[in-house]
Amino acid sequence: MDFINRPRYIPMNRRRRIYEGKAKILYEGPEPGTLIQHFKDDATAFNAKKHEIIDGKGVLNNRISEYVFTHLNNMGIPTHFIKRLNMREQLIREVEIIPLEVVVRNVAAGSLSSRLGIEEGTQLPRSIIEFYFKNDALNDPMVSEEHITAFGWATPQEIDDIMALAIRVNDFLAGLFLGVGIKLVDFKMECGRLWEGDLMRIVVADEISPDNCRLWDLSTGDRLDKDRFRKDMGGLLESYQEVARRLGILNEEGPTRPGGPTLVK
Ligand code: TMP
Repeated sequence: MDFINRPRYIPMNRRRRIYEGKAKILYEGPEPGTLIQHFKDDATAFNAKKHEIIDGKGVLNNRISEYVFTHLNNMGIPTHFIKRLNMREQLIREVEIIPLEVVVRNVAAGSLSSRLGIEEGTQLPRSIIEFYFKNDALNDPMVSEEHITAFGWATPQEIDDIMALAIRVNDFLAGLFLGVGIKLVDFKMECGRLWEGDLMRIVVADEISPDNCRLWDLSTGDRLDKDRFRKDMGGLLESYQEVARRLGILNEEGPTRPGGPTLVK
């Protein structure tokens, strides 16, 4: 390959940073229309009022999210994910993020339980989809389709597409986790607009990991997700490792190497 056509290698310290969020950083990607999504070790809750660095969390979320998004892609559920690049980074398609947090709930917990007084653990009559406006200054308030369309965050057709995606992702995730002895209580996902010429599709974006799912062990009810951090229960890393191990991502011997989990592949 001649010099001119060689893929552009951008040293990490010279990459252009596009956006930094609470748990991830987005860098300019190697080709137009691509980005690099970097997973940090930061854990935050209550709109970052609570913050800690948990060594190794980013590595685990990168792997778990890669696993989920690869399966979604293979099932024909469109996502922004292209491939994992290394321990902390993924190559993704650049999308226009829709400013909504889409929450799907199967079992009552968290803010649903406190808002409506439904005991945690109560099976819901059917899966419920909720929308929150992604805005840290406002604490991500819950919004309805009326607000979303009136303020132009998404069109009615886009809301239909988002809800259809949310149901498909929920069906896949619920089955995936049930198969490894975990109950999918609820999760949050984000969507983006992917432009391909004049055509636009809504795709699943961001990440899907124990940071944005509630995962309860089927037999013991143990929390295997970020509630361990939100509720000061401790053992967050061990829980994420357990999720990764059950999905077959981590070595059976588990994390023995100091400084991070032992990863296969
Ligand atoms: P909630 O019960 O606190 O509303 O959370 C519902 C689901 O959404 C739960 O799986 C955690 C996830 N979530 C996020 O991913 N980010 C957030 O900022 C919040 C509040 C919840």
